[in-house]
Amino acid sequence: MAIVEAMKSLCFPVEVCRLFHLIAVFCLVSFLIKTVKLFRRRWEMMTALKLFPGPPTHWLFGHVSEFPQDGTDLDKTVIWTKQFPFAHPLWFGPFTVFLSINHPDYAKTILTTTAEPKDDMVYQFITPWIGDGLLVSAGQKWFRHRRLLTPGFHYDVLKTYVRLVAESTKIMLDKWEQIYTKESHTLELYQQISLMTLDSILKCAFSYCGNCQIESDSSYIKAVYELCFLANQRFRTFPYHSDLIYYLSPHGYRFRKACGLAHHHTEEVIRQRKEMLKNEKELEKIKDKRYLDFLDILLCARDEDGKGLSDEEIRAEVDTFMFEGHDTTASGISWLLYCLAQHPEHQQKCREEIQELLESHKQIEWELLSKMPYITMCIKESLRLCPPVPGISRRLTKPLTFFDGRKAPEGCLVGVSIYCIHRNPMVWDNPEVFDPLRFSTENSTSRHTHAFIPFSAGPRNCIGQHFAMNEMKVAVAMILNRFELEIDESKPPIKIPQLVLRSKNGIHLKIKKLQ
Ligand code: HEM
Ligand SMILES: *[C@@H]1O[C@H](CO)[C@@H](O)[C@H](O)[C@H]1NC(C)=O
Repeated sequence: MAIVEAMKSLCFPVEVCRLFHLIAVFCLVSFLIKTVKLFRRRWEMMTALKLFPGPPTHWLFGHVSEFPQDGTDLDKTVIWTKQFPFAHPLWFGPFTVFLSINHPDYAKTILTTTAEPKDDMVYQFITPWIGDGLLVSAGQKWFRHRRLLTPGFHYDVLKTYVRLVAESTKIMLDKWEQIYTKESHTLELYQQISLMTLDSILKCAFSYCGNCQIESDSSYIKAVYELCFLANQRFRTFPYHSDLIYYLSPHGYRFRKACGLAHHHTEEVIRQRKEMLKNEKELEKIKDKRYLDFLDILLCARDEDGKGLSDEEIRAEVDTFMFEGHDTTASGISWLLYCLAQHPEHQQKCREEIQELLESHKQIEWELLSKMPYITMCIKESLRLCPPVPGISRRLTKPLTFFDGRKAPEGCLVGVSIYCIHRNPMVWDNPEVFDPLRFSTENSTSRHTHAFIPFSAGPRNCIGQHFAMNEMKVAVAMILNRFELEIDESKPPIKIPQLVLRSKNGIHLKIKKLQ
């Protein structure tokens, strides 16, 4: 009303004052209606989830204050898993609740039913960045694109990638050798490995040789870090759940800026490949289906009417694969190296395995990847304890009944805590212990199908999982063949979930060159 008074004193005509008056009343009323709706929804959800007791919660902030992002967040969820071994509600602000799942049987129910859409906030918040690509899209569009892109991960295609990943790893290790002779022995690995996995995905999926490791151009990686950080922060700060408030906030501005940077990078990659395909020879090469890389599939895709994908659709997929294809594996490899540094006896066994293989082969090749049982077990055990994607979520389009008869209501957000399932004491003996032998053939057979789901499961599982496993094998084998890793007790990592599992202070290890 103060505005109206001020207008009057500025001698606006009466009609204009009335108009402003009306607008003010309208805004107030719609705000009130919206608030009433939100509270009603809150009450409905609380009633519907009564059967799921959970940790105490604050009426306004929910459980957010239990997650101070200081490295204890995930430990806390594991403590709750012991109290509520199947599922419990988790509130983020007064109006947003997830039913957080900690048990394989519950996970199986949600991951095997029809592909529920991912239109919850976590995915919504990153959509301005990765668009409506495979990770986020739903229904017919998702189905069509998944079918279109699956050949890009055919085993014949993956075969050709082994050499490319080995090349990227070699560049990184040569760099480490230089650093090693110059500086102290402690190295922050996460950044180095991110550059390496970015280099790999660029070469493999996009036929793009950016030399990003040598030029150390990490602007894209920094943008990805910023985007993950901001998306996570937005999720934790409930007023930011409103698009308008976020848009006007300084963090919203930072998000748009980082988005712009990331898009600039992907557009450049697409442009270069289009340019290259104007060359006859390149075009000949991709006619041979075996060399069709991921980007070529997108550029050449035609539906029944001969219509291709729009530029926007292509960029969404490129943004999705660029992010998913490098950040997850960087997390996987970094935490794996950390686990092996903590357990020198397992590290040594892996090293012996690779040294033996390399006696008869000059370098890592496709055929060798199936001959690394011990390394494979260590990778899996590290994916169990430090899953690069610690949790995923869905919105239910219809009520879902779990095996014990409890029901989650329609419209409910369901989070699957991969991290907690992997440490649930109902499923794993001594869950905190790093023990690769859990994954020996003998020990794996009796396990629940959904006890170990680093790549999720069911129709929306990870399309890149074989690519990822291969990349991790090549990288860790080559690293262990040249370096010994030791933990740096003065800089323990601080685990934080930010879409992917990161360390707030990086991952610092002492590296020693092998003779
Ligand atoms: C260790 C490495 C990786 C882990 C742990 C991982 C994990 C996952 C998980 C848990 C999901 C399910 C996400 C959800 O339901 O919201 C997923 C989906 C996906 N991943 Fe991965 N991923 C890895 C590497 C990769 C790589 C290398 C690529 C690409 C080259 C990739 C591309 C994708 C895509 C496109 C989806 C969405 C699939 C769909 O919904 O149809 N991932 N990943
Ligand atoms: C199975 O796991 C146990 C405990 O981790 C281990 O002692 C045993 O050797 C494993 N068995 C095999 C055949 O790997």
